[in-house]
Order: sequence, then structure tokens, then C-alpha cells
Amino acid sequence: MEWYDDYNIDVELIDSQHQELVKMITRLQDALSSGALNAEIATVLKFLVEYTRKHFKDEEKVMAAIGFAELENHKNLHGRLIEEVKNILLDLKKGKPIHAYELIDFLTNWLMNHIRHEDKKIGRAIEKFKNENSEWDGSFP
Ligand SMILES: [Fe+2]
Repeated sequence: MEWYDDYNIDVELIDSQHQELVKMITRLQDALSSGALNAEIATVLKFLVEYTRKHFKDEEKVMAAIGFAELENHKNLHGRLIEEVKNILLDLKKGKPIHAYELIDFLTNWLMNHIRHEDKKIGRAIEKFKNENSEWDGSFP
């Protein structure tokens, strides 16, 4: 997966985590295309899940801090992704063959669409929040 600057939502914390996620998906892609064993792929995928969980928590903290109106809906989208990836991990554990192309395609498309359509809204809401709260120092509790 490649990073494009138009994925930036102009929130440093979130943008740097998104870039890290892109790197991790690329790492997974490399593991899959080099014919890594299921156990190795599971390790990379678990790492990706852990990082994604942390990222989602941070993103949700940012949304809560500015009173983002679509917080609950956005949280649900995050929760659904985690569930789907957990199911993929379960399949791996059971020894089911992995469809590498579909997995990478799924993760890449999910992240790309999510950033472009959902996370961008956070960026815009923060911009608005900044304008309406001139005393705000830009940090998130
Ligand atoms: Fe998000």
C-alpha cells in the first residue's frame, strides 16, 4: 500500500499513525508475497491489530475532545473492522488457506476509504473547533 499526501487530515497525531498503518499493511503484503507461513502472517497481522486498536483509541479520544457529532457512528465503524480482522486471525489459527490478494485488497481499501470519507470529517471538525475556540492550545487530553 502506498501513502499519498491527500490522505492527510492535517492532524499530526492521526496522520503519523495512518502512515504507520500503511507501512504495516505493506509489511504484511511483503510477508504474504514471500510465501511466509501462516504462523508468521498471523504474527504480523496481530501486530497490525494491536497498533490499529491503539490508533482507534487515540482517534476516538480526539473526536471526544472536540465533541465530534458522529463519534458513535465512527466508533462502530472501527469496531466492525476489528471484528473482521479478528475473524481472519481465527481462520488462520484453524489453518484455513489465506487469500493473500483479497486480504491486502480488503485492508488497503478499508483504510483508504475510511481516511478519505470518515477521518477527513474529523480534520474538518477540528478546523472548525479551532476557529471557534481561539484559546485552545491544540492538544488533546
Ligand atoms: Fe477512523
